[in-house]
Parts: sequence; structure tokens; C-alpha cells
Amino acid sequence: MAKGNLVYRGKSKDVFTITEGPYAGKYRLVFKDDATGYMERGKPVFDPGRDTVVGEIPGKGAVACRFAAHFFKLLQERGVPSHYIDTVGDNEMIIEPATPLSMEEEAPEFPGSEPLMNLEFTWRNNATGSFWRRYPFVRPCKNLNKVVEAWTKGKTDVLITLEALEATGAMSREEIARGIELVKDIAEIVSMEFSTRGLHVIDGKFELGRLRDGDGKIVIIDEISPDVLRICKGYSPDENGDCAVYKECAVTNISEGNRTIKNKKQVSAAEFIDIFLE
Ligand SMILES: Nc1ncnc2c1ncn2[C@@H]1O[C@H](COP(=O)(O)OP(=O)(O)O)[C@@H](O)[C@H]1O
Ligand SMILES: [Mg+2]
Repeated sequence: MAKGNLVYRGKSKDVFTITEGPYAGKYRLVFKDDATGYMERGKPVFDPGRDTVVGEIPGKGAVACRFAAHFFKLLQERGVPSHYIDTVGDNEMIIEPATPLSMEEEAPEFPGSEPLMNLEFTWRNNATGSFWRRYPFVRPCKNLNKVVEAWTKGKTDVLITLEALEATGAMSREEIARGIELVKDIAEIVSMEFSTRGLHVIDGKFELGRLRDGDGKIVIIDEISPDVLRICKGYSPDENGDCAVYKECAVTNISEGNRTIKNKKQVSAAEFIDIFLE
């Protein structure tokens, strides 16, 4: 397929406009082998939580593409809209062009002003990671009933409350309500899909956008990838949905005011991809 015009070059994917053929005007989402992480003694350590590309993992792009296509098709079957149109190669899919949930800086004459480029939405079945670090009064792995939080995407992600989203004008009240409902619906579908394979989703992160063609409807865009899901094996909910094996699983620490939390039963992307894409 013709290369098309580059719209955006990201850390793990590139976006092109399709210039000819049946999908002219739509976008092509190309999944790359580039992986984020950090350097340790001159060697790359891959870590999806990081924001710097440190090297390549051959085949990573194709796996992410298959994984995303699997979930976008599942959403389609369940009547949940997304930007997905078709898969056209090992590592590329055709998608509906969308506008990220962004906002121009309102007063650029003020030094330090910056536009809002994009929003991300996290959702959580259980308390761990940055949620527990922020709210350490909560029992690790407590059931959070898919609590949704919004983050402004930038050099570092900053939590933005739902009221602030409305007050700033970034999203309307109706859009926020619809967006949260959508994230929870998708989270439930993804969680069920994993549970049928004996795996439990701890939490995840989605991107939403307004469809360019049509009525600007808000849908899930970007990817549902192994990189944006935290998965564990051996989840054992009690009657409240709180994981009952947290004492064996969660390990927390505090040193110089910095908290850490690890989950011993968490499985790596490499492990759950095998179970998924066999
Ligand atoms: N349907 C879509 N329309 C427009 N942009 C999209 C769509 N889906 C994903 N994107 C954007 O494409 C980019 C994908 O590249 P990625 O490597 O994830 O970028 P980043 O490094 O910014 O996370 C993201 O910025 C995402 O917002
Ligand atoms: Mg991204």
C-alpha cells in the first residue's frame, strides 16, 4: 500500500493519511517495533510505563496490532463504537480519523501557556500502582469498581478531575458522562475477555477521540495493547470483589518518602500475549 502522508510520528506508532483507493481520506495506523524503557549500564531495559524509546523488540508491532484488532473486533461485535475499520497487514490497520480531546492554549501571550494535546483515561478494577501510591490509606488490591480518572497527556501525565475537565472547557458535561460510561463498558468487555482465559485485568488506560467524519461522536481510539493493561494470575475475589490474596501478592515499601507497590502475581506482557494470540 502507498505510504501516504505522515500525520503523526509517535513513540510506538505512526499515523498516515491514505491518499488513494477505497480508504482514501482515512488513516493508516502503523505499529512499530520501537519500545520504551530506560538505560541501565549501557543496555536498554524495556518498560511500557516509561516514555523514552530505548530500542526495538522485533515483532512487537505485529503483536500489538493483532492484539488491538482482536479487541476492536470484539467491541464491534458488542456494538461498542471505535475508530477501527480494518486490518491490512501484519502491523497496520485502517482507522477513522479522530480529533484527540485537545484544547488550544487560551492566552498564548502568557509565557508558559501550553495547549492541551490529548487526554487519557485510566480505569481500575483493583487498587495498585500510582493509585495506591497516591492513596496509600487504601488496602492494596481493593475493588475500585472500575473507577475512571482522566490525565492530560504530556511530558508527564497530570491528573485532571472530571469537574476541572468541564470547568476548563476541555469537555462538556455530556461528553464527560458519555466518555466515562464508554470507558467502563469497554473495561468490562476487556476484563471478561481476559477472565475467560483465567487472567484478571488489574487496570488499564484508554484514549478517546472525537470522530472527524460524522457527528464528532466520542469513541475509543489509539490501541488496546498489552502495554496499556496490567494483568495478573490467581485473582481471588471475596464477596465485595476485593482480591483476597493481597497479602501474598502485594509488596509495598516506602523509602525517603517514595512509595512503591509491586504485585507478585502480575504477569508480563510476553506471558499473556502467548495465552491470547495462540
Ligand atoms: N483514530 C485516530 N485519529 C487520530 N489520531 C489517532 C487516532 N488513533 C490514535 N491516534 C494518535 O496516534 C498516535 C499514536 O502514536 P503513539 O506512538 O501511541 O504516540 P505517543 O508517542 O504520542 O503515545 C497518538 O498520539 C494517538 O493520539
Ligand atoms: Mg501512545
